[in-house]
Amino acid sequence: MALYQTGILDEIPSSARYLTFSHIPGTDPSKPLKRLAKLAEGHALVVGLGRSLVLFLGGDISALKNFPVHVSAGIEVPSTPVALWCWLRGEERGDLVLRTNALCDLLADAFECHSLIDAFKHGDGRDLSGYEDGTENPTGDDAVQVAFVQGQGPGMDGSSFVAVQTWVHDLSRFDTMTSEQQDNTIGRRKNDNEELNDAPLSAHVKRTAQEDFSPEAFLLRRSMPWADATNEGLQFVAFDGSFVSFEAQLKRMVGEDDGVVDGLFKFTRPITGNYFWCPPMCEGSLDLTAVNV
Ligand code: HEM
Repeated sequence: MALYQTGILDEIPSSARYLTFSHIPGTDPSKPLKRLAKLAEGHALVVGLGRSLVLFLGGDISALKNFPVHVSAGIEVPSTPVALWCWLRGEERGDLVLRTNALCDLLADAFECHSLIDAFKHGDGRDLSGYEDGTENPTGDDAVQVAFVQGQGPGMDGSSFVAVQTWVHDLSRFDTMTSEQQDNTIGRRKNDNEELNDAPLSAHVKRTAQEDFSPEAFLLRRSMPWADATNEGLQFVAFDGSFVSFEAQLKRMVGEDDGVVDGLFKFTRPITGNYFWCPPMCEGSLDLTAVNV
């Protein structure tokens, strides 16, 4: 039986919901979390705990830091801490609606829903800009090495750290760019996904080229497009055994390394920023011993 939440490694589902929950002051979260631990079988629901909840429970997960704020000319990368994160994965929207209701009921003694994002797979795994997302993700054993904690003992091994950001796209703005400008923004060609050798330094894949960091900065990205009645964008989700790689990449994206800002900021911006610790699994349930539950 897997030691980790298998949904982290599994293919992106055709539909999903990303829910966050606030901890209701004065309530004891232990019982609802025990119920959640049983419900989360790994694949259809991936769970992450925020730093405020881990601290409240007296857990000692030192790598779980606060999400970093970045502010530079015209760029804002916010940090929006929250207690609990649930990624409901499914193939059918009605099923997700019913599972959302059941999840909210199960947690209601100590948690209230803070945000809900409806996400979906677009085409063969594309961002709404039309570009394939996830091409350079590690696979197989490499993905396991990148995404999960190892060598820290029971309760921690098999856990993962996830960075989550809701990005809001301005697709009308993106559509005003020529296809060459769009390709240079990403650093790949939209029509065949080929990487552009002569892409500008601001191209997204130049900013984030995982092998160009020292040490190399690999992430397991599991982002999904999202939309509501008025907006749309990408729910950026990246798993790692710590936040070191994510932070190195984010710094380079906002221009802190060399003053060059990622071309993505020309048409999209993050409105949330969160770090969560995703507990390991033990005998088919979440193992919450590291947080005393
Ligand atoms: C709206 C936000 C974003 C969009 C639309 C986006 C889209 C893309 C696309 C289309 C690719 C090329 C294909 C691929 O390898 O997946 C890519 C690559 C990548 N992105 Fe993003 N991305 C976003 C945000 C981020 C953020 C916030 C990070 C990390 C801080 C990041 C890290 C990466 C990495 C590591 C790669 C692979 C680079 C390589 O090694 O070639 N992305 N992204």
